[in-house]
Amino acid sequence: MKILENTNILLGVTGGIAVYKAVELLRLLKKAGADVHVVMTDAAQKFVGRVTFEVLSENHVLCDLFEDAESSVKHIDLATAADAVVIAPATANTIGKLANGIADDAFSTTMMAVTCPVMICPSMNTDMYQNIRVQRNLDILEQDGLHILDPDSGVLACKTVGAGRLPEPWFIVDQLEELMTPNDLAGENILISAGPTIEAIDPVRFISNHSSGKMGYAVARAAKRRGGNVTLVSGPVNLDAPVGVEKVDVESCDQMKKEMLEHLKNADIIIKVAAVADYKPNDPMTSKIKKKDTKKKDLSIALTENQDILKLIGKKKTKKQFLVGFAAETDDLEKNALIKMEKKNLDMIAANIVGVEGSGFKADTNKMKLFFKDGSFKDIPLMDKNDVADLLLDTIIEKAGKSK
Ligand code: PMT
Repeated sequence: MKILENTNILLGVTGGIAVYKAVELLRLLKKAGADVHVVMTDAAQKFVGRVTFEVLSENHVLCDLFEDAESSVKHIDLATAADAVVIAPATANTIGKLANGIADDAFSTTMMAVTCPVMICPSMNTDMYQNIRVQRNLDILEQDGLHILDPDSGVLACKTVGAGRLPEPWFIVDQLEELMTPNDLAGENILISAGPTIEAIDPVRFISNHSSGKMGYAVARAAKRRGGNVTLVSGPVNLDAPVGVEKVDVESCDQMKKEMLEHLKNADIIIKVAAVADYKPNDPMTSKIKKKDTKKKDLSIALTENQDILKLIGKKKTKKQFLVGFAAETDDLEKNALIKMEKKNLDMIAANIVGVEGSGFKADTNKMKLFFKDGSFKDIPLMDKNDVADLLLDTIIEKAGKSK
């Protein structure tokens, strides 16, 4: 689901040093498929000229109510057409004007006519941000139903250290997508496992697999964006946890089992994307195995089968819980997936071919076939893992009757 595709986003840019970040924000919004219109204050133009925004947005930028725009009510046209408004950066002055209903320039007059969701991204010096009058104005705007994105903390342009920095543009886009996504998983507790497990041979070596965590993290991110309370039990991966998701780090299958079972009771939907190692060394060494200990050519490691976490959950699950497994197959996708669904008592299994480019492990894309307990199935063509995640959740909502 490309949330911002074909949407009309109105970007309000007001005068602070962070205007340079609004340029990148505009670029990312365009990349996400939005038609972006920009309205700027006079002060904003002192930092970055309107031409930059005009070229990148491919739209006229409104700066002056009385300039030679195509329409004499350009501010009303912009406000009416917008699906969402982002004000970034939002200065103390802007926040004060919006909170008190002042409309004395192109920007504030346009904002007065807006009826769609508005996200305000304050950015200023820490003392200004913490000023009681600014905070009071932000409270008023929040009570009016506008969304306030807290600023980041760090070293500011004025060299002070504290809250007031405009969040990174990708994060603003992420939050905007969340704002615009229907909350069809609100109130649902969703337990997801992702990434590989690693099984120690000795303190420096292990058995594992190629899972990068991308698929599981995409599902977690989408479920959170759609309003779910998400717990992500994750093996070792190089990915940041999606914002707002409770992440539990594990390494081995045994640790993953413990955490999954601990969180199982509260879960409404369980999605097991993790690639769990099927075997672990019988007897992991507590010190590093030295070369001299392994002179024999036929060195071998005795393995024990790991417990199947999904099968265990399948036995424990209640009628109200919806259990989804994944199947990574190199051949006989359908046959193997159906066997796993039956054996592990799943409501649904998402089967993907691994070992081919663009699908399965490590890739940014995936292609899969979903099988359901009632014998039906659904194909998901090759697409970005974020889009696969949304389609997967759409299907779970439909099959589990979870939609709010
Ligand atoms: O992480 P990425 O790089 O993005 O790659 C995504 C993926 C290929 C890992 C993912 O799409 C996927 O297919 N995950 C399941 C991988 C897997 O372990 O498949 P399996 O067929 O071996 O296991 C079937 C199911 O049983 C899985 O839900 C697995 O989590 C579960 N299982 C397996 C063994 C075990 N001991 N315990 C389990 O719970």
